[in-house]
Amino acid sequence: MPIRSVKDIPVEGKRVFLRVDFNVPLTPARGIADDARIRASLPTILHLRDQGARVVVASHLGRPKGPDPSQSLEPVGTRLAELLGDEVLLTDEPVGDGARKVVADLREGQVALLENLRFHAGEEANDDQFARQLASYADVYINDAFGTAHRAHASTVGMIKHVPEKGAGFLMLKEIEFLSRLLGSVERPYLAVIGGAKVSDKIGVLESLAARVDKMLVGGAMASTFLAAQGKPLGKSKIEQDKLPLARAFLKKAQDRGVGILLPIDAVAASSPEDMQARAVSVDEFPADAMSLDIGPKTAAAFGDEIARARTVFWNGPMGMFEKPQFAAGTFSVARALAGNPRALSVVGGGDSVSAIEQAGVTEKISHVSTGGGASLEFVEGKLLPGIAALERP
Ligand code: 3PG
Repeated sequence: MPIRSVKDIPVEGKRVFLRVDFNVPLTPARGIADDARIRASLPTILHLRDQGARVVVASHLGRPKGPDPSQSLEPVGTRLAELLGDEVLLTDEPVGDGARKVVADLREGQVALLENLRFHAGEEANDDQFARQLASYADVYINDAFGTAHRAHASTVGMIKHVPEKGAGFLMLKEIEFLSRLLGSVERPYLAVIGGAKVSDKIGVLESLAARVDKMLVGGAMASTFLAAQGKPLGKSKIEQDKLPLARAFLKKAQDRGVGILLPIDAVAASSPEDMQARAVSVDEFPADAMSLDIGPKTAAAFGDEIARARTVFWNGPMGMFEKPQFAAGTFSVARALAGNPRALSVVGGGDSVSAIEQAGVTEKISHVSTGGGASLEFVEGKLLPGIAALERP
């Protein structure tokens, strides 16, 4: 169903409520550790400002249960002001007298940022009274918060019916465009590269992707559970014992469908994540006193060959504990392989894989780096996200 673009909605002089996802990582000193999500919504903010809208930007940050100064959007407002080269007025609460006054006094082209929406319990509860309060700040509602589109909250769903006009920002539209391509008919071979800790977290997307892709490359701690399901003893590796039947059933179904599931043939093993004496071992001769913390070099090479031949690739989840340099090679090799295949449509989602792409310095070589973690996974799983459904026009 069609979703109206922000560029097709007249906004001059109007108060525009812009929901963004500025849920960004902070440093211990409360600086912005990564401002990618803020930069990603700049085109929408600049457009609204240049069109003479009175812009009310709103986001959540973290998971506070009520007002909590350590989760204030203040550092985000400061960074946004730097990026805009202009003043950003931060309200003292998401709703209330102070916020109402800031919004009422906004001039054309001015930008205000509401304080963290999750300081109010009504946000996550999708409470109608809170939704109406937010809606009272707006003539037009624009959602650019793709990363939060899988949450049915007051600012992503509830308030929309109380605002006369609604539409999507440029980031939201771009995310929908690229991720939708993964659900339709794509050039083949079509690969999914899936990593991360747990089979249980990703079984939905694994099953859904298995119905569409030609091959799936599996790394990360979840690969150990699949290898264990095939009867390979993997020493002290993290294995979800209670998920072994699920893993076995998944592998069987994939085999019946003719989908190749490529599991690691070797691993970087160590006695613990702190052990600096990591070594590459075959998964068939895994030492009893070690755990798998990354895919090994032979696996990385095999995965690289598959990625080089692919025409469509979706990647989510690291191949190992890549935050530690001794276990990062596998994840970076996937990032570089993806960047080295300019003919493929490459889409990366999920905080860790996106951060690996950035650290490898190859962001520009990827077709689309999603700002969504959970949202991109649910989208690729084929679910209709509530924050997107609410923008559709009858
Ligand atoms: C995210 O970072 O995935 C989104 O901002 C949603 O955050 P949440 O998982 O706390 O709802």
